[in-house]
Amino acid sequence: MKLGIARERREGELRVAATPETVKQLCGLGLEVLIESGAGQASGHADDDYRQAGARIVDVLDLGAVDVLGHVRPLEPSTAASLRRGAVTVGLASPSSELPTVRALAEAGITSFALELVPRISRAQSMDALTSQALVAGYRSVLEAAMRLPRFFPLYMTAAGTIPPARVLVLGAGVAGLQAIGTAKRLGARVSANDIRPASAEEVASMGGTFIRLDVETAEAAGGYARELSADRGAMQRKLLAPHVAQADVLITTAAVPGRPAPLLVTKDMVQAMRPGSVVVDLAAESGGNVEGSVPGQDILVPTADGRGTVTLVGLKDPASAMSADASRMYAKNVANLLALMTRDGIVAPDFDDDVVAGTCLTHDGEVKHGPTAEALAAHLEELASQSGNAAGARNQGAL
Ligand code: NAI
Repeated sequence: MKLGIARERREGELRVAATPETVKQLCGLGLEVLIESGAGQASGHADDDYRQAGARIVDVLDLGAVDVLGHVRPLEPSTAASLRRGAVTVGLASPSSELPTVRALAEAGITSFALELVPRISRAQSMDALTSQALVAGYRSVLEAAMRLPRFFPLYMTAAGTIPPARVLVLGAGVAGLQAIGTAKRLGARVSANDIRPASAEEVASMGGTFIRLDVETAEAAGGYARELSADRGAMQRKLLAPHVAQADVLITTAAVPGRPAPLLVTKDMVQAMRPGSVVVDLAAESGGNVEGSVPGQDILVPTADGRGTVTLVGLKDPASAMSADASRMYAKNVANLLALMTRDGIVAPDFDDDVVAGTCLTHDGEVKHGPTAEALAAHLEELASQSGNAAGARNQGAL
């Protein structure tokens, strides 16, 4: 079977879904690998590196001629429509926010696998792209903060005086938050953190952070994920967090609730109460924002309440893409490992009795297989139908 890897087309995306190392692995599975020329350039891989690993380089990937497509960012609906019926796709799909693509994949009869849906069980860890990319994002968020902070992270005792360590506060201690804690610790900062999952206190301590206990009920849903807090509890959490935020030199926010917009943890007032020169990095800026006023891809200078300076509010965008070499190295491994699970003698034949395969499948045989996405798509289509009904009604009324 032919496996194609196209150049990523979305603006700002520098990662690639296969590296020369994974090309060897994929060829070893009996697949014929086609790489679009230049696909790996931004991740440090030249066409020749892929060629030597066993791939064929093509100027433009003919989507209709591949059996399997590996990708990083969610596909465009037009890409889904260009694939041949029965083709397999593997990559990130953002099912909840890319419903037109989900629809196009189902209508085109594509068997698509969304890496966001990989079950979080030990057997699937090597395919878990959310984890591998969150690790990069958490690490990167600390470096972005350190570069903007007009202070050291570590304690320095020098002949010219003693410099205290920076105080870093991390809100949301999932994969990205724990990496942020570890990275800030390695840089010598004094790190504290908060999360609403009960297990997080121990996880924060294991990374060397101090857990901040708030008098807010923990909120955990099935699978170890967070639940959304009620409006009252959310407001209570913000109130209790306010003094901790005001004390921090660096605030990094990573909180997320699957399938929901990111929770608002920090208001503009809370940012304004920080000291001049402090830095806030909102890792959730692209999914609604944990910090009021953050804008993806922008630094905003927020005047402090005391009128003595500003706080830099960073809306982090594409953090994993900014470290495209190592992010691609891990991502490509995730893709290749999932394909290895489904490939025998050069044929990709998903076994839907396998929990990992079934759980990761987004569309197959014209249907949306992931329940919540199928429901969201049905609601979306109903809304479209009612809008076009209203528009037709309005036109008819106009005609009358
Ligand atoms: P995520 O990206 O969905 O959310 C990030 C963090 O934000 C979570 O820790 C969540 O509890 C926290 N959060 C949500 N609302 C919050 C609020 N109001 N205040 C403070 N924090 C809030 O989470 P991620 O990183 O994907 O991890 C989710 C869970 O999955 C964790 O329990 C993690 O340990 C687990 N996991 C398991 C894996 C496995 O078994 N293979 C692999 C990776 C993660």
